[in-house]
Amino acid sequence: MKAVAWHGNHDVRVDTVPDPTIEQPTDAIISVTSSGICGSDLHLYEVLGPYLDEGDILGHEPMGIVEEVGAEVSHITPGDRVVIPFNVSCGHCFMCDKGLMSQCETTQVREYDTGAAFLGYTKLYGQVPGGQAEFLRVPQAQFGPIKVPDGPSDDRFLYLSDVLPTAWQAVEYADIPAGGSLLVLGLGPIGEMCCRIAQQRGVEHVMAIDLVPERLERARGHGVQAIDLEEHDDLPALVRDQTDGRGPDSVIDAVGMEAHGAPVGKLAHRLAGLLPDAPAQKMIETAGIDRLSALHMAIELVQRGGTVSLSGVYGGAASPMPLIQMFDKQINMRMGQANVKRWIDDLMPLVTAGDDPLGVETFATHHVPLGEAPNAYETFQKKEDNAFKIILKP
Ligand SMILES: NC(=O)c1ccc[n+]([C@@H]2O[C@H](COP(=O)([O-])OP(=O)(O)OC[C@H]3O[C@@H](n4cnc5c(N)ncnc54)[C@H](O)[C@@H]3O)[C@@H](O)[C@H]2O)c1
Ligand SMILES: [Zn+2]
Ligand SMILES: [Zn+2]
Repeated sequence: MKAVAWHGNHDVRVDTVPDPTIEQPTDAIISVTSSGICGSDLHLYEVLGPYLDEGDILGHEPMGIVEEVGAEVSHITPGDRVVIPFNVSCGHCFMCDKGLMSQCETTQVREYDTGAAFLGYTKLYGQVPGGQAEFLRVPQAQFGPIKVPDGPSDDRFLYLSDVLPTAWQAVEYADIPAGGSLLVLGLGPIGEMCCRIAQQRGVEHVMAIDLVPERLERARGHGVQAIDLEEHDDLPALVRDQTDGRGPDSVIDAVGMEAHGAPVGKLAHRLAGLLPDAPAQKMIETAGIDRLSALHMAIELVQRGGTVSLSGVYGGAASPMPLIQMFDKQINMRMGQANVKRWIDDLMPLVTAGDDPLGVETFATHHVPLGEAPNAYETFQKKEDNAFKIILKP
């Protein structure tokens, strides 16, 4: 089959590899009909190379048709249409029972002391072959796959794999009080969807910050007060002006480590990319490769006693945090990978509703054949051609 494989920094290729087969009784094989490229894939494209091997298959936002199931898989059968969560979780361990599927104890990657395995996402998350491919082996398929109805377009359901539950959890964790205000940093797919979900859930005052003009326009198009990072010298003053002088009740950081305006991070990225794997891994783990500008901004802007919800991904252990400011402002913080399956019951009515309240039908800007993935990655990384969300069609 054809699959999108990592070959190095800024180098993904479409390789021909053996078709996957059932390896465990809890596996399923699906033929992939749509597969998203995610902002998280850009971390692999640029930063996390030391944790990948050449040939690793990328992708963690797939959906498709069940081809074959293992002996212990009973809730889906060949021919079913399914969306695959990015978390590989068992559904029956201590953590899954608590709704923390991203911490699943059956698939935790103990070698790196990380949480649940994650499709297509480096050795840190189990090096599970990903879904930007014609076929995918789905581990823990007795629990993971989400059955969806035939009929509506793939785009109706595809985002249940990652974008929707991630944004839903970010809003949930932001703990916005009734009548309160929300500021979202970053208007990529995650930030944009956070705005839509917050509005859908009744938050009237939603502000957002980004620096890509089309993304700001997109958010303004549905009533978000979108602010251009580069147009204002004193963002804190501007934001406070709009929120009774106090700052928003809640801030969601949907930027992550590619944050604009963190030059030290840029250098660290480059250096890590040039080092052999072992020293580069060490550097990422200890030196703090993060570019924390967005997170620091979240802490600075949030109201005293307010909540920062972090969905942007940051790596690195030695990241300096403004602890004194966090303590002084009495800030609450929640974060983590989305627990995908936990939020599906909340989301399913919204993606199936006739009027498409979250706008998933028109969310993607590009649908391209799998064979064009190398180009698509480059376009997405450079934010060219208005690329906002790219869906690969195997
Ligand atoms: N927690 C989870 O489970 C989970 C799931 C999916 C994605 N993510 C993470 O969420 C983050 C966002 O994902 P995405 O797909 O929307 O990515 P993206 O790269 O498309 O979006 C990030 C946006 O932030 C903007 N930005 C950069 N610097 C900024 C700054 N200083 N202030 C404000 N905006 C800034 C960029 O212009 C861009 O529009 C990534 O870090 C991704 O890894 C987390
Ligand atoms: Zn993703
Ligand atoms: Zn589990």
